[in-house]
Amino acid sequence: MHEIVEKASVLIEALPYIKKFRGKEILIKYGGAAMCSEEIRENVLQDLVFMNYVGIKPILIHGGGNAITNNLKKKGIQTRFVDGLRVTDKASMEVVVETLAEINKGIVHDINKFGARAIGLSGHDADILSVVKRQASEDVGYVGQITSVNIQPIKELTEFNIIPVIYGVGIDQAGETYNVNADDAAAKIAAAMGVQKLMILTNVKGILRDPADEGSLISSLRVSEVQSLIDQKVISGGMIPKVGACITALNGEVKKAHIVDGRIKHSLLLEIFTDQGIGTEIFL
Ligand SMILES: Nc1ncnc2c1ncn2[C@@H]1O[C@H](COP(=O)(O)OP(=O)(O)O)[C@@H](O)[C@H]1O
Ligand SMILES: [Mg+2]
Repeated sequence: MHEIVEKASVLIEALPYIKKFRGKEILIKYGGAAMCSEEIRENVLQDLVFMNYVGIKPILIHGGGNAITNNLKKKGIQTRFVDGLRVTDKASMEVVVETLAEINKGIVHDINKFGARAIGLSGHDADILSVVKRQASEDVGYVGQITSVNIQPIKELTEFNIIPVIYGVGIDQAGETYNVNADDAAAKIAAAMGVQKLMILTNVKGILRDPADEGSLISSLRVSEVQSLIDQKVISGGMIPKVGACITALNGEVKKAHIVDGRIKHSLLLEIFTDQGIGTEIFL
């Protein structure tokens, strides 16, 4: 009996948050690194379906990470990074698109299986992500810098209660397809849509003061503190585009931006429906 009553109070605790976010959009970026385990993946997608059923409008942007590197390896293509960007020639770009499209199909299928409706989109469908070639210290090939976002097709899906599942490739003026950083794509779309929250799911607790120590989580961080953490090399590698994404989103009127541990069971629900919050919140 006691347990049943407990369950009811858990539901009631979520009520103010359901009221607050009902009818509103929340954008979730699901990283390559937090995608590897089937269990994590199912939890994340179930959370999205739950949100959808209580009237919240989730939008998912995903990356490909390890799967891209593995598929390139299978084809005998070496992965090389310049200034943190994956050097992407024509042959690599084909593998990138194939891999992302495959992941996208799987996610859409599973969301549908869990009972909500999802539609997969590539960033170049309907010119969602327009790009120009990214400049770096040497030619990095098909790596795009996002110049504008067309939110119309995304809005139309959320209005019909459909979860848009988008992968980060963009299109340039000549109609060429470019790879884009999924964190950046998420931020630009979040800002253009003015969503309530940007949540970046990854495979660490959040921003750590000492990347080797999971106990050193920074739970909230001011935008003005970020640059010195990058200069001190506390924030490095894949975490740099994530903090950049949070800043872009906040400057674009997104109310909250979080970096959340996808490995924690139902971390999205915990972050949205409880007061405590997990991970790192970045604020202006
Ligand atoms: N200060 C930091 N705190 C936590 N992680 C950091 C930090 N600096 C760098 N990182 C690295 O950033 C990684 C997350 O970025 P990335 O590997 O690109 O993940 P994703 O696939 O989710 O985009 C972490 O696994 C960690 O190795
Ligand atoms: Mg990354």
